[in-house]
Formats: sequence, C-alpha cells, structure tokens
Amino acid sequence: MADQTFPLNAWYAAAWSHEITRALAARTICGKDIVLYRQQNGEAVALENACWHRLLPLSLGWLDGDNVVCGYHGIAFNSDGRCVHMPAQKTINPSACVKSYPLIERHRMIWIWPGDPALADPSKMHDFHWNDGTEFVGEGGTYYSLKCDYRLIVDNLMDLTHETYVHAGSIGNDAVTETPFDVTHSRRIATVTRWMNDIEPPPFWAKNLGKPGNVDRWQIIRFEAPSIVVGDVGVAPVGTGAPEGDRSQGVYGCFLAAITPETEKTCHYHWNFVRQFRKDDAELTRQINQAHVNAEGKGLYDQDAFVLEAQQRAIDNNPRLPFYNLNIDAGALWARRLIARMIEDESTGVTGLHSEAAE
Ligand code: FES
Ligand SMILES: [Fe+2]
Repeated sequence: MADQTFPLNAWYAAAWSHEITRALAARTICGKDIVLYRQQNGEAVALENACWHRLLPLSLGWLDGDNVVCGYHGIAFNSDGRCVHMPAQKTINPSACVKSYPLIERHRMIWIWPGDPALADPSKMHDFHWNDGTEFVGEGGTYYSLKCDYRLIVDNLMDLTHETYVHAGSIGNDAVTETPFDVTHSRRIATVTRWMNDIEPPPFWAKNLGKPGNVDRWQIIRFEAPSIVVGDVGVAPVGTGAPEGDRSQGVYGCFLAAITPETEKTCHYHWNFVRQFRKDDAELTRQINQAHVNAEGKGLYDQDAFVLEAQQRAIDNNPRLPFYNLNIDAGALWARRLIARMIEDESTGVTGLHSEAAE
C-alpha cells in the first residue's frame, strides 16, 4: 500500500498493564479489532474481536474461566483462539477459530504484534525501562484517545520548539526556540539533543530545582521506530557539570510516550512522566500532574491534543497541500524516514531481520 502510515510487523503498546483485567476490553490497533483480557493466572490475551460464526464482537460476550464465550450463540474460544465449545453442534468444526495475537507484558505495559505472528520476535521489543518504577518514579501511566495520525504526535514530541507557543507559562520559554540542536540516527532510533546552557529556568523547572540562578537545561529526545518517544529532560545549576555528564546537582525526569495507531487517522496515546528527584514524595507526584495546567484549566495534554486534532482536520480538508519542512523538523523527519523504511521493508519482505543487523 503506497500510502500506508504504519508497519504491522512491530511491537506496539496495546494498553497499560493496569488497564487490562478480567473484563473483556475492545481496542482497535493498526486497523485490527482486538479483544484483550487476562486469564485466571494473570497472563494477558489478545484475540481477534469478531466471532468466527457471525462476527459479533467477542468483547460483547463474557469470560468462562479462561475462555471467551460469544454473546450471540454461545460459541466459546480458548486463549489461543481455538473453538472449545459449540452449544448447538455435537462436534466442533475444526476450522472454527479466531486469530490470537502475540503479546509481551513488560515495563508495566502490554505490547502487541499486529503483523505476522511468525515474525513476532521478543528481541525486537522496545526499550521502555524508564517506566519500570525502579530508577524513576511516576504515577503509572495515562491513556488518551486522539483523533489524529499517530505520526503527528511523533512530530510534536520530536520538535519541542512548540513548547514556547503551545505550553507558554510552564515548560516553554524562548531558549527552546533559540538554541540549536543535534540529530543523530541509526536504523531504528533517531535522537534529538538540545542543551540550553546558562539560561533562566522556565517556571516548572525553577520550582522543582528549588535553587536560585541560571541553569543548564537539556532535552534529549529518543525516538524508537515506529512509535516510541522517550524524552530525557531536566535542569542543573549552571556550571555544575551537567553537560559533561554530572547531573548530581540537578533535577530531571523522562516523558514517556508509546503511541499506537488505531486507524490511519486516530491513535492511542500512552503517556507518563517519571522523575528521578524526590521519589518518595507522593504529594509532588500529584503536583507534577497538575503543574502544567494553564489559566483555562487545560493541561499539557489538552494543549497538544487541541493542536493535533485541529491539524488532522486541516490535513483532511486540504488533501493536496503538502507539509513544508524547516530546520526545527529535522528530528521529526528522521523519525518519519525510519517509519517509512520499516513499511518499505515490510512490503518487500525484508521483515526487519536485516534492519537489526544494520543497527
Ligand atoms: S456470532 Fe458468535 S456464536 Fe454466533
Ligand atoms: Fe507538547
């Protein structure tokens, strides 16, 4: 498909671990309707969300032990998607089954491989260890549904100059726009690094640092194709060695984004902010969640969501208008190139094996 926007042979965040329980949960991932649940031993399962018989979504049925029972005529499927009970038949039709999708539960998330199950390779799992709750702490993760192409969120996170305009008053200041940055990339990872040395800290960081004076501020944004973005962000008092690698006088954290296409024009946005400072302070965790709320009561997410969904509507309304690229888009451009390469590899049957070798 020439204009396919996402690869299928990749691990995608299906949900935060805490979102999937013994209740049947429907989610569309990369255009595929999926039902998720946990077995009695806690292991998560993902099945095609359309009954083999007459296609009723299985999420409208119920669990009987580890089996899903269809709510229409009672056919039951086990966690492999195989039919194990047909109420009105003496024998089970051997072809009766629904697809089951490979899952990995790691880093407090459930990851799904929507493509060819034979190619699902755990060694291709993304690094998302910042969310483990060990080195960094955070409230565990938020889920948002957004009406935009998932790549618009990648663009947004790979170019933080938008902070100056979209998030003025909390994390945005002129230094972000005025300071040059570096972009590096490998076959699967693109990194944008920006050091803003000897600047006045923006309000959020000034408060959390709790020391007067100028700071060295950094934003090191790591994209892992096709849809993981981790931003290492923080400040340290100017001249205490942060740019050289000594962050001991500073405060920092990571924003974590696992973005999953729902369709070509909608997506699931899994978001967390984890920090390395005052890790036992639950009140601070609560305050950080509130910290970016502006005078209209809108938080960082609302501010971005407003822009991204409006952007998608404009794209839909102006199908012939292209995007123009500026210097600030260099990180996003690399991210999009790496995604395009995965899609290309998939369509030519490279399957990602060569991609790993070339890393
Ligand atoms: S549609 Fe599911 S049992 Fe008939
Ligand atoms: Fe933003």
